[in-house]
Amino acid sequence: MAVMADQCPGINIKVVDIDQKRIDRWNNLDNSDLPVYEPGLEEVLTRVRGKNLTFTTDLEREIGSADMVFLSVNTPTKNYGYGAGQAADLSYIESAARQIAEYGKGQTIVVERSTLPVRTAEALQTILKQGNGDQYKILSNPEFMAEGTAIADLQNPDRVLVGGQCSESVEELASIYRNWVPNNRILRTNVWSAELSKLTANAFLAQRISSINSIAALCEKSGANITEVKQAIGADTRIGSSFLNPGPGFGGSCFKKDILNLAYLADHFGLMEVANYWRSVLELNEWTQHRMAQIVSQKFYGTLRGKKIAVLGFSFKANTNDTRESPAIELCSKLIQEGAHLCIHDPRVTESEIKRELRKNERHRSFGSYQYEQELNSAVEDAHAVVVMTDWDEYRRLDWATIANKMQRPGWVFDTRGITNLREAAANGLETWEVGCGDLQ
Ligand code: UGA
Repeated sequence: MAVMADQCPGINIKVVDIDQKRIDRWNNLDNSDLPVYEPGLEEVLTRVRGKNLTFTTDLEREIGSADMVFLSVNTPTKNYGYGAGQAADLSYIESAARQIAEYGKGQTIVVERSTLPVRTAEALQTILKQGNGDQYKILSNPEFMAEGTAIADLQNPDRVLVGGQCSESVEELASIYRNWVPNNRILRTNVWSAELSKLTANAFLAQRISSINSIAALCEKSGANITEVKQAIGADTRIGSSFLNPGPGFGGSCFKKDILNLAYLADHFGLMEVANYWRSVLELNEWTQHRMAQIVSQKFYGTLRGKKIAVLGFSFKANTNDTRESPAIELCSKLIQEGAHLCIHDPRVTESEIKRELRKNERHRSFGSYQYEQELNSAVEDAHAVVVMTDWDEYRRLDWATIANKMQRPGWVFDTRGITNLREAAANGLETWEVGCGDLQ
């Protein structure tokens, strides 16, 4: 919404939430405590906040006076009842829809921004009918931005997707995007295609990562090198070179949830083979996450008791403080369970967030422990191993001479992202392992 306000000075945008504390943080002018960290967001926000972008909890007034309402609420995986662990929990969408039905007055266009199961628009229509039913037109306008690059993705999107049955409303929303997006990048579809395209785009991206991670494991065994294989296949324009980086498995709030959702949908329509195909992408991802901890443990002959291990990076990817489904959670929990003492460093994730995630994942019997380290140099002090988990830029430029000096011997470096200069680490007396390459020969 900040980007939209920036590109459309003539449109008044009100961001409404029921959480007063969260709204206060968005309204805090010094920007030191914004609810999300996103490069470039502060600059955009500073230009528009208080002008044509305001944050408030006054649902009744803002819904009542809006021409268009964007629904951007959480749709986590359901953890109770029918479809538990697979289907999307639509309770937030439902209660937001009920509020629109209660407070909406004029000819309102309701835009689904949250990622939703196919045919949610139908359910929304039913709820809205309980208010002034016919006044609402429902559009699906799914979001394709990625965390860490969200501002650039929104300012210059590959495409914008607007799905709807009422072409007048579709054009109304398209005309907003035309303020900064070329018309030929604004795709118009029916509402179900838009909903399904969002799930499919994420499923295809996740499938690419599982595919490359499966080949990375094969490279380690066969003597092939994943960087070379990646280059060779990416040069084929039909395959393309992006989204082919091997790693510790994908994380983030979307891929797993959306694939579970897609599989659930396929099951619902009796397409078991389709559901199983997509579930296998998740299974490979879980296996990849376990595999990283297993490799670390094997290099220490299966005993991590008394070993100090520095974990570099806890967010699910670089340039975000988001830890949802981060592969670091699984790795850390496993290593603690095996008796290691971890020193966890991340440039953006806070100590309390790390604690919250690890507490959720606590196993019955753990022999090890962990602590948060703000300084990278303290995290590696006396460490038996360093595990690079997130592709933060600062980990690409690690000074291995200094780090090696601080570490124990034998000292190991595990690069689960293939981003650090392992030759330099080896030249300074460390043993090294890299995803898709294995031990440095
Ligand atoms: C993803 C999609 O990329 C967005 O298009 C989509 O809008 C978004 O989900 C969403 O549905 O909200 P995001 O989860 O923010 O965006 O981040 P990605 O860049 O897709 O990365 C996801 C995970 O895959 C991360 O853990 C990342 O490290 C991993 N990854 C990504 C790899 O392991 N290798 C790659 O080559 C790329």
